[in-house]
Amino acid sequence: MKHYVITGAGSGIGQAVATRLHQRGDALHLVARSTLRAAELYEQFPGAHALVADLERPDTLADAVAGADLPARIDGLLHVAGALHLGPVAELGLEAWRASLAVNVTSPAELTRLLLPRLRHPAGHVLFVNSTSGLKTQKHWAAYSAGKYAARALADALRDEEGHTGMRVTTVYPGRTATPMQEAVHDHEARDYDPALWIDPDTVAGAVVAALDLPADAEISDITLRVGPRPTM
Ligand SMILES: NC(=O)c1ccc[n+]([C@@H]2O[C@H](COP(=O)([O-])OP(=O)(O)OC[C@H]3O[C@@H](n4cnc5c(N)ncnc54)[C@H](OP(=O)(O)O)[C@@H]3O)[C@@H](O)[C@H]2O)c1
Repeated sequence: MKHYVITGAGSGIGQAVATRLHQRGDALHLVARSTLRAAELYEQFPGAHALVADLERPDTLADAVAGADLPARIDGLLHVAGALHLGPVAELGLEAWRASLAVNVTSPAELTRLLLPRLRHPAGHVLFVNSTSGLKTQKHWAAYSAGKYAARALADALRDEEGHTGMRVTTVYPGRTATPMQEAVHDHEARDYDPALWIDPDTVAGAVVAALDLPADAEISDITLRVGPRPTM
């Protein structure tokens, strides 16, 4: 049985990842934004542990980790939570920038720092669910992409720094995936939402678990998952 700390397990891709790991008997330590959300996660994932922390408040993570019942050795820290703030730079206010950077990069950096002593071993793994918007941006995506570009830098520097301990670092860059976040994107774009057009969250979860399960003689540093071609005839 392995121990995984996961953010974003209550919805979308994170829920699909947590479901796969839970079903095979791994121990889950789930970061929930509130005690109410933690109670929902306990119901969804019986036997799971919760760590209550709002990722918009990276300054609260040290106390949350100190108060959590975490094992001395963690096999994986999976940063799946993300925050979407869309709009033209002309309209993106300070709050959108603060929240996007806090959830998408500052909290992952702080949580990684706090948990590193438990992850520095040859089976340790830190995995980031980034986005193809962390590789290339477009109009209205500045705040989200800035957080994701920065998370890419965080992952690459961490891999360089910690490789000598045996710990592995992986970034997964999914394209559009059928989750509540994608519905919000469609709202912003004023488009009808058809989940069948986009990647199934469980497909992304499959790639995440494949990276975690890779034998230790290799490391998947990056995986890009683009929306598969859809037949038009
Ligand atoms: N959907 C896509 O098209 C797509 C494409 C590429 C990359 N991604 C990335 O994939 C990851 C998962 O996104 P998703 O599509 O599965 O979105 P989602 O269904 O909206 O789930 C986002 C998760 O992040 C958690 N979260 C957000 N803000 C938080 C906060 N302040 N404190 C604690 N938890 C917080 C949410 O918690 P609650 O459940 O409590 O709200 C939720 O569990 C994100 O990093 C996203 O950027 C998504």
